[in-house]
Amino acid sequence: MSTATPARPSREALTKLCKQIYATGRELTLQQTLTTVYRPSYGATDRVLEWIPAGARLLDVGCGTGTLLFLASVLRNLERGWGVDPKQASIDVARDVEIDAPVSFEAIERAPAQMIAGADTITLLDLLHHVPASEKPALLDHYLRNAAIGSRLIVKDVDTTPRWRAFANRVTDFLLTRSTVHYMAMGDARRYLEANGFEIIHADRWYNYVWCEYLLVGRKRAMDEAGGGDRSCDPPAGS
Ligand SMILES: C[S@@+](CC[C@H](N)C(=O)[O-])C[C@H]1O[C@@H](n2cnc3c(N)ncnc32)[C@H](O)[C@@H]1O
Repeated sequence: MSTATPARPSREALTKLCKQIYATGRELTLQQTLTTVYRPSYGATDRVLEWIPAGARLLDVGCGTGTLLFLASVLRNLERGWGVDPKQASIDVARDVEIDAPVSFEAIERAPAQMIAGADTITLLDLLHHVPASEKPALLDHYLRNAAIGSRLIVKDVDTTPRWRAFANRVTDFLLTRSTVHYMAMGDARRYLEANGFEIIHADRWYNYVWCEYLLVGRKRAMDEAGGGDRSCDPPAGS
């Protein structure tokens, strides 16, 4: 697997590609069109994609309708991709797409341990703020514990400050998906990953429309590797 990182693709190009990909599948509702085809125009898909190594074996947790996996299979030439999400309707949309891509989708609460261990890159894209605080440790522990040594974990989510932006996200999430928000602040997420065997190789935070978002990229350390310390690596080209 190459660890080279590409330049960040434009949001317009990603949205155009999504239109072509999802045109091969079922007809989407307006809400599905917004959260699937237009996802790259307001989500941080572009920032996440640039941290997915070429030829990766990618597990996308909370994959929704599969936008990230399809884009990664085209742009990052995935060796293999798995998407898991408890929402059957979203998985059905992903499964109906008819492009030649080595990806599969499962409507399940948790990916099996073997699937997690078989991935070299795991993404959690806007998942954590949909999981109640009391359930987050079990969910995170399951993926962190079963991840292979050396694998890459990419977490993109919404931060808790400034407070007006966090509130704005509550409103937009409710309007788009009727969902309730349970934040995990960037600092808390970072500490959780570090305390559970991951070194952070990249951390970033930015404003996107009304939202304040963050990205954490971690690498699972071997048991005998020295822990701790901030060994941030250079950001990829174009970031
Ligand atoms: C905001 S959507 C993000 C979808 C996709 N990751 C994206 O960025 O386009 C959050 C997704 O997390 C899923 N989800 C909620 N709880 C989950 C859990 N415990 N495990 C896995 N996925 C979950 C939801 O069904 C939904 O598809």
